Amino acid sequence: MDRIIINGPCRLEGEVEIAGAKNAIVAILPAAMLVDGICRIENVPQISDVENICNILIAMGAKVNRADGKTLEVDCSGVRSSEVPYEYARKFRASYYFLGALLGRFGKATVALPGGCHLGARPIDQHIKAFEQLGASVEIAHGNVECYAEKLVADGIYLDMVSVGATINAMLAATKAEGLTVIENVAKEPHIVDVANFLNSMGANIRGAGTDVIKVQGVGRLQGGTYAVIPDQIEAGTYMAAAAATGGRVLVKNIIPKHMECITAKLEEMGVSIIEYDDSILVDATAPLKKANIKTMPYPGFPTDMQPQMCTVMLRAEGTSKINEGIWDSRFKYTEELIRMGAEIAVAGKIATVEGGRQLLGAPVRACDLRAGAAMVIAGLMAKGTTTIEEIDHIRRGYERIVEKFASLGADIRLVLD
Ligand code: UD1
Repeated sequence: MDRIIINGPCRLEGEVEIAGAKNAIVAILPAAMLVDGICRIENVPQISDVENICNILIAMGAKVNRADGKTLEVDCSGVRSSEVPYEYARKFRASYYFLGALLGRFGKATVALPGGCHLGARPIDQHIKAFEQLGASVEIAHGNVECYAEKLVADGIYLDMVSVGATINAMLAATKAEGLTVIENVAKEPHIVDVANFLNSMGANIRGAGTDVIKVQGVGRLQGGTYAVIPDQIEAGTYMAAAAATGGRVLVKNIIPKHMECITAKLEEMGVSIIEYDDSILVDATAPLKKANIKTMPYPGFPTDMQPQMCTVMLRAEGTSKINEGIWDSRFKYTEELIRMGAEIAVAGKIATVEGGRQLLGAPVRACDLRAGAAMVIAGLMAKGTTTIEEIDHIRRGYERIVEKFASLGADIRLVLD
C-alpha cells in the first residue's frame, strides 16, 4: 500500500506555489460538455480527481489534450452519449456535475449516485429539485440518477439550504434552458463564481454569482475559448495552517488573498502574523499561539474543508479550543487518528474540544478522507518521531505534489510506492 512517511518535528520555512482550485475544476470540466468547440483551460491542478474526470470525458467521446502540465484542451463536440460510465462516476462525488451539464446539452443524463468523502449523509435532493423546476423528470434506478426533459424551461428555483453542488448544478442545467432562471439562496464560494465566469467566457449569460441570487438567461449555444482556473483556497489554507501548526514562516504564492480572509482572520486571532501581498500571503507563526473557537459555515464563513487542518493548529495553541462543525454530520473521524498520536480531543456530536500544548508523537495513521489526510500530514510534521500515513489515495484526489511541496519547505517527508 502506498504511504507517506514523515520524520518530525519540523518548522516549515520557505515558499510554496498554490495550484488551481480543485472544487472549481471538478465542475468546469463537466461544464465543458455544454460547449461546442475547444475549451482551453489553464491553471489546472495535477490531481487524481482531474485525471478521473478526463477519463470520463474521453470514455464518452471527448478529445482531451494536455497542452502542458497545467493546461488542458477539451473538445466535447464529438460526445454523443448522455450516460457517464458507471465505474468512473460512482467513485467520486463531483461526478454529479455531469447531471446538470448533460441535461443542459442533451435534455437527458444518467450518472451513478455519487460517492466521495464520507462526511455523513450527502443527499442530492436540492439538485433534483432544481432539475425538476426546470421541467426535467428525475428517477433513481439501478444505482443511477436518471434525468430527462423534453425541453428545459427557465423558472424560479429556491434552494432549501445553501448547497455548493446544487447551486452549480442548477446553473449548469439553466445555461441552455429557455428564458431567465432565478436561483435563490445559493452558495457563494469562490469556485461558484469561477464556474459562472468560465461559462460566461464561453458565451453563457449568468449574473449574480457570489451573491445570494444567481440569474441565468438561457442561451442557444456556447462556443470555445480560453479560461484560467482560480487558485485553490483550501490548498492555500492548508499550507497556511501547516505553517501555523509547526511554528513556521511560509510565503504562500499564487493565491487571491480576498478568498483567504475567513482563514486569515482566525489565524490572526490565534496569534499568527499575516502579511498580504497582491497574490501571496506571508504566514509567520514563530510566536506562541492562543486558543480559538471555530464554527464551520458556508462562504464567507469558516470553510468546513479547513476544519481538520485547523484542528492541528489548535493542538499547538495554549488552552482549550472548540470546533463546531456546521455543515457535515460526521466530520470528526480523523480525530481518532490524532488521538493515536497523543492529541487530547473529545468529540460530542458536532462539537470537538481540543486541548492544546501537548507534544504529538509519530504513529501509523490513515487518511480517512481528503482534508483529514492533509491534517495527518500536518500532524506528522508536528510530531516527534516517524508518522506513516496510509490510504493516501484520498490525499492525491485533491493535493498536487504534496510531498514535494512540503519537502521544499524543509520537511523530512517521502512517498513510498508499493
Ligand atoms: C462541496 C465541496 C466539499 C465541501 C462542501 C461544503 C465540491 C466538489 N465539494 O460539497 O468539499 O465540503 O461543498 O463546503 O465542491 N445538502 C442537502 N441536499 C442537497 C445538497 C446538500 O441536504 O441536495 C446538504 C448536505 O448534506 C450538507 C450541506 O447541504 O449538509 C452542504 O452540502 P453541499 O454544499 O452541497 O456540499 P457538496 O457540494 O457536496
